[in-house]
Amino acid sequence: MLIQRLLPPDLFATKTVFVTGGGSGINLGVAKHFAALGAQVAICGRTQARLDAAAEELRALGARVCPVAADVRDMAALQAALSRCREELGDVDVLVCGAAGNFLAPAEQLSANAFKTVVDIDLLGSFNAARAAYDQLRRTQGSILFISAGMAYMPHAFQAHVGAAKAGIDMLMKNLALEWGSHGIRANSIVPGPIDGTEGMKRLSDPGQQAQFVGGIPLQRMGTVDDIGQAAVFLASPLASYITGCVLVCDGGQNLAGSAFFNQGAQQMLRAQTRT
Ligand code: HXC
Ligand code: NAP
Repeated sequence: MLIQRLLPPDLFATKTVFVTGGGSGINLGVAKHFAALGAQVAICGRTQARLDAAAEELRALGARVCPVAADVRDMAALQAALSRCREELGDVDVLVCGAAGNFLAPAEQLSANAFKTVVDIDLLGSFNAARAAYDQLRRTQGSILFISAGMAYMPHAFQAHVGAAKAGIDMLMKNLALEWGSHGIRANSIVPGPIDGTEGMKRLSDPGQQAQFVGGIPLQRMGTVDDIGQAAVFLASPLASYITGCVLVCDGGQNLAGSAFFNQGAQQMLRAQTRT
């Protein structure tokens, strides 16, 4: 990992990082970056087997790991997960709110429950995690990282549910940065661009459209899980000790070209799904 060559391997030694949705994809990549710099890591998600497999990968990097199943929509389950994390690893220094759900759906075909489900996982789940971790974060003067998306500030077709949820996350982040700053707690968001090989990309774009995606990105490449891990450790590190309330867009400049290329691809993908 690049980060191991650039930052001290003990940067997060003695620190505890709790990652919601940490069993896979971008969030697991973030967890690995903290583990590689000495942190002990708790990961939560709904699937214990997935968490156990991810925990092995984190242990291979030398971390002490607490894989604990919890649905972020269930406040009691999250509180129990954070208590267990505290017993095993100590108070949380860094909370990463990354659990999310997504699918393509035209707004007029979204049921009320479909819309609510994504808002519940992404937005309510992020609030629940931050609220459940508050006492611990206050003791450690820790920080929170929210994993947002470009849908938060630019409309993307068939993503009304996700746009609303992620925009809510970014405003929640700013409110917490404002209110909890005086307790020494920082809060920031990361907006990943299209990240190669992830569940999110699988759901939102056809692999055949990759060249189209890359063509719409000024830096002319897909993002990697490592790109987001690097942004996360920076924001949680002392290098960013005066940064709070910030939305860090890590997308190779993708947003500069707008969402038209995404919208066209999503239209084709949705049509193909409807035919099958
Ligand atoms: C329309 C859908 C749907 C679909 C589900 N629903 N899938 N509606 N199109 N494709 C509706 C259901 O019919 C139901 O409404 C409601 O949503 C809840 O569905 P459940 O299956 O009961 O929900 P649940 O089991 O809680 O699962 C949540 C989920 C699922 C979001 C639907 O896909 C999931 O678990 N996802 C987690 C993994 C994931 O999505 N990863 C990608 C994150 S990437 P009714 O009315 O029938 O009851 C990401 C990328 C951002 O966020 C940006 C990338 C560039
Ligand atoms: P992913 O692998 O599907 O990650 C989502 C994780 O959240 C999974 O591990 C999932 O595990 C967990 N999760 C889902 N619902 C949950 C719930 N109710 N309670 C607890 N955990 C839950 O997808 P990804 O593509 O890597 O996305 C990760 C994050 O990056 C998300 O916040 C996403 O919005 C954001 N993002 C992704 C992209 C991209 O290109 N992929 C772009 C922008 C933003 P279980 O199913 O086992 O619970």
